[in-house]
Amino acid sequence: MKEYKLDQNQAPIAEAMETHSLKRTVAFDVPGHKQGKGNPMLRDFLGEQCLRYDVNSRKDLDNLCHPVGVILDAERLAADAFGAGHAFFIVNGTTAAVQAMIFAVLKAGDKIILPRNVHRSVIYALILTGAIPVYVNPGIHPELGIPLGMSLKDVEKTILANPDAKAVFVNNPTYYGICSDMVGIVNLAHSHNIQVLADEAHGTHFYFKEGLPISAMAAGADMAAVSMHKTGGSLTQSSMLLIKDEKRMGEIRQVLNLTHTTSGSYLLLASLDITRKFLALEGEKVFKKVVELTEYARQEIGQIEGYYAFSQDIVNHDSVFAFDQTKLTIHTRGIGLAGIELYDLLRDEYDIQVELGDLGNILAIVGVGDSKKQIERLISALQDIKDEYEQDDKDMIAYDYINPIVKVSPQKAYYADKTKVKIIESLNRISGEQIMVYPPGIPIIAPGELITQEAIDYIVYAKERGSFLTGIEDTAIEEIAVLED
Ligand SMILES: Cc1ncc(COP(=O)(O)O)c(C=O)c1O
Repeated sequence: MKEYKLDQNQAPIAEAMETHSLKRTVAFDVPGHKQGKGNPMLRDFLGEQCLRYDVNSRKDLDNLCHPVGVILDAERLAADAFGAGHAFFIVNGTTAAVQAMIFAVLKAGDKIILPRNVHRSVIYALILTGAIPVYVNPGIHPELGIPLGMSLKDVEKTILANPDAKAVFVNNPTYYGICSDMVGIVNLAHSHNIQVLADEAHGTHFYFKEGLPISAMAAGADMAAVSMHKTGGSLTQSSMLLIKDEKRMGEIRQVLNLTHTTSGSYLLLASLDITRKFLALEGEKVFKKVVELTEYARQEIGQIEGYYAFSQDIVNHDSVFAFDQTKLTIHTRGIGLAGIELYDLLRDEYDIQVELGDLGNILAIVGVGDSKKQIERLISALQDIKDEYEQDDKDMIAYDYINPIVKVSPQKAYYADKTKVKIIESLNRISGEQIMVYPPGIPIIAPGELITQEAIDYIVYAKERGSFLTGIEDTAIEEIAVLED
């Protein structure tokens, strides 16, 4: 087991909540359900203990906006476990952590170097700050059609062309498990006085298992947004923002407080506290099992002609610098089905829910709670679907990434005068909105970008195949807001 400086057996927030719940305090404060007594329907649904623990900030339980007690202690334990200078607990999802990183480093007009296959939260942060994106084309895997990582060469070229950039933003890893050269990018960016911000929404486990790609903190990045609630196993919406330099704690806390709730949920905070303890004590063992399961699944799926479950074989030490073996992505075009079609079949016909289906792949998240039996069910359903539904793959779109043509900044586009037009008639207009398939939530078009025929074809095709499109005001996905001429 890894060596830690602090005693990782502690869980200060959870322990304080337990002590608190044993007291016979008469509560004349919020929440108004008063330990569930005032809302029996909710108490029956969620359970008595859950509502007893749903409390508000009190002196003995500390305050998320200004922690000086058990929350600060729990954050310090998390920083120790993740090798960070400080770890901020977040209850507004990783969206809040991603946005705080950007708010902390960039102001209106500042440049940020980033791949375009970022989550929508990044684009919204650019709208809010007025920062200017300088995109690095991540390239597309020729067979799989998925966007890759940023190559070090391309980052260097972009930095040299934009020496005034304030930050480089890196996905570590992408949804599909692809990593850029984190150490190379950190060293390069720092030598130009540029900060490195990492989106580790899908990389919590990197901190706890040897042999997986390097974590942002270990690589020396300045900040990282880590979705504890994804592969870490905490409650949905709980997340963390890690910073390398502890001296920046006060400054970054103030940035977080720009948007963070003043009523941080103690259910979420306790879930972060307990999950950190669990990962520090058991993480190595847990993720070893996850890797064994995914490797087994890949081996078996590889026997079924038409599917391709990729792994380390796609590593090219450049745009795919490293691969996260815990991700089980299966390429589906070989059986003539789009990923989203397979996603729907698995759910509707086999009662199997996978994380996402895009145009050419499905992604199954294998986690600590999975067993070989569940993997067998997935494998046999995949075999069945091939036998029943395989078809000719002509007319399928073969890529899941469109290189953007940026005309104006996201903020300028968002606040510009706009008009609505039919998506199919929006060719060569500048978009005022972002539209994406969710998940993964990577915009097909972002505000300020030229709408190309390729983008229109992609949207029409994704809609026809049953993808869940979102981001624009028109929920029927017929019309898009474009800048007035
Ligand atoms: C890469 C990436 N970053 C950030 C987020 C935002 O996370 P959350 O949904 O917790 O706000 C997501 C969510 O899916 C994501 O995939």
